[in-house]
Amino acid sequence: MKHYLTINDIDSLPKWVEEARIIKENPYHFQNLGKNKTLCLLFFNNSLRTRLSTQKAALHLGIQVMTMNFGKEGWTLEFGEGTVMNQGTSEHIKEAAHVVSQYCDILAIRAFAGLKNKEKDEAEEILNGFVKYASIPIVNMESSTAHPLQALADAITLAEHRPKSRLKVVLSWAPHPKALPHAVANSFVKMMKLQDAEFVITHPEGYELDSKITQGCQIEHNQDKALQNADFVYVKNWSSYSDYGKVFHQDASWMMTQEKLGNAQFMHCLPVRRNVVVEDTVLDGPKSLVIEQANNRTFAAQIVLKKLLESL
Ligand code: CP
Repeated sequence: MKHYLTINDIDSLPKWVEEARIIKENPYHFQNLGKNKTLCLLFFNNSLRTRLSTQKAALHLGIQVMTMNFGKEGWTLEFGEGTVMNQGTSEHIKEAAHVVSQYCDILAIRAFAGLKNKEKDEAEEILNGFVKYASIPIVNMESSTAHPLQALADAITLAEHRPKSRLKVVLSWAPHPKALPHAVANSFVKMMKLQDAEFVITHPEGYELDSKITQGCQIEHNQDKALQNADFVYVKNWSSYSDYGKVFHQDASWMMTQEKLGNAQFMHCLPVRRNVVVEDTVLDGPKSLVIEQANNRTFAAQIVLKKLLESL
């Protein structure tokens, strides 16, 4: 594997999940693998889990870590070819990517969707700019369209808690006051397509995700119907994709409640707005897996870094 940009960069999800679970039992087993190696984390957006879990994963492997809040502290990057840089941008991605490649062995990047221009977001200019001009492996720590470290952690969490016989997983949209990107939902859908499970996506009309990603998935606009007999309910807000970045409504009836959840286990990538996305009773109850999902972010990052180190 050259880079980890999407969940589809994984050659075998079941094998990776199994290996991650073994690593979780003995996180320092490969502590010499990353000796004299450096990981650089560039954040163009805020983070709690991604930043700390990726650093923790690197520490388990003996990798040195450098972190920069590029969005707040770095030079404003230019991506255009042949641009006369006499306006707001200070440094071209070409130089930035080459320079960073000299300082580290693996580069991880977080750069969210702006949600103003679909074409620009889908071009993933920051992530792909570094992929194009850097000479080292790149890890996607959530880009405009994908959050593959989260999806891998979610796959580990599902494997740890799945019932032996059958599996029904529901991805449910939930209300939120702000316009949120599609990255987590996109990667979760892609990951679920690699699972042996019944998978249903439920959302109000107008919140259809990219049909290229949901192609072949069951979509049900009646949330109650979708939730019937669910084993896992993954809740996430996203803004409109067709009317790009718009928030049509914040219909509180879509909030996840204990009554709706029934016996299913609750999943969310965090951070989550309590009593808007999901009620307290669910988050504080025994069926919530959110803290375990966050813990598994470390082992998802660790297996990705291990694979990249092995192929350096
Ligand atoms: N789930 C997730 O990526 O969390 P952070 O935004 O805090 O990193």
